[in-house]
Amino acid sequence: MSRDHVAINRAVWDADAVNWTKAGRRLWASRAPVWGNWGRSETELKLLPTDMSGKDAVELGCGTGYVAAWMARRGATVTAIDVSSNQLAVARDLAKEHRIDIRFLEANAEHTGLPDASFDFAISEYGAAIWCPPEIWLREAWRLLRPGGKLVFLGNHPISLICSPLNGAPCDTLLHRPYAGMWGADWTEVEIDPSGVCFNLTVSGWIDLFGQIGFSIDSYQEIFAPDQAGGTRGSVPAEWAKIYPAEQIWHLEKPLQADA
Ligand SMILES: C[S@@+](CC[C@H](N)C(=O)[O-])C[C@H]1O[C@@H](n2cnc3c(N)ncnc32)[C@H](O)[C@@H]1O
Repeated sequence: MSRDHVAINRAVWDADAVNWTKAGRRLWASRAPVWGNWGRSETELKLLPTDMSGKDAVELGCGTGYVAAWMARRGATVTAIDVSSNQLAVARDLAKEHRIDIRFLEANAEHTGLPDASFDFAISEYGAAIWCPPEIWLREAWRLLRPGGKLVFLGNHPISLICSPLNGAPCDTLLHRPYAGMWGADWTEVEIDPSGVCFNLTVSGWIDLFGQIGFSIDSYQEIFAPDQAGGTRGSVPAEWAKIYPAEQIWHLEKPLQADA
């Protein structure tokens, strides 16, 4: 990918921020975390430690900042990073409304400029997890974590990408793209619903990369739509997502004995 994906994605999100305010407001108001396009419950998926008191947490690509809010409510001291000033403006307003103290930073999650080993927990839900090249942002997350620190991220499942037509239409049951050599997709010039540049890897590609960086895998979850779901979310029809995994969640650890 030789185009400037960071500038492209920043422009996409600055322009689109207005369309995410309502969802952001609803999710800030939700005391119980819900995850991904299908709103799966935290009780079921367990992305966050129940008690985050005394923990330093960072969200990489925070959007409207509701995940940051959920972590702060669990007692964490939270830094939330986003490259889009318009998304951050909404996040800051919501934090003020809810009287929650979060440090918001306008920065590229691939190179945050924050000190080494400054966090116990890092998370990304559809932020750096899909908008940044994995070999770059995962190394940054590794650098930011203390030994023993956890990284959890949620994004599109690679199967949903190979089943996505080249014109940007919702995914279907044909294989439209090669699996081998997967890097992601450039959605900027597609006919239907153009957006930015997204990144993904094959499952073995993710696992190899975690190993090269030094992360160990605590668990891996493949997320389906619930039985009662309908419609299409994030270009994935509910009926498709009931029988194929639309989303994936990786739970990783920077081992205690790791060099910083
Ligand atoms: C879909 S939102 C993620 C937030 C929220 N969890 C959600 O699902 O709505 C994607 C966010 O990633 C941010 N983003 C994209 N590229 C980024 C980068 N290189 N560094 C930091 N944030 C980035 C965008 O600005 C946007 O706010």
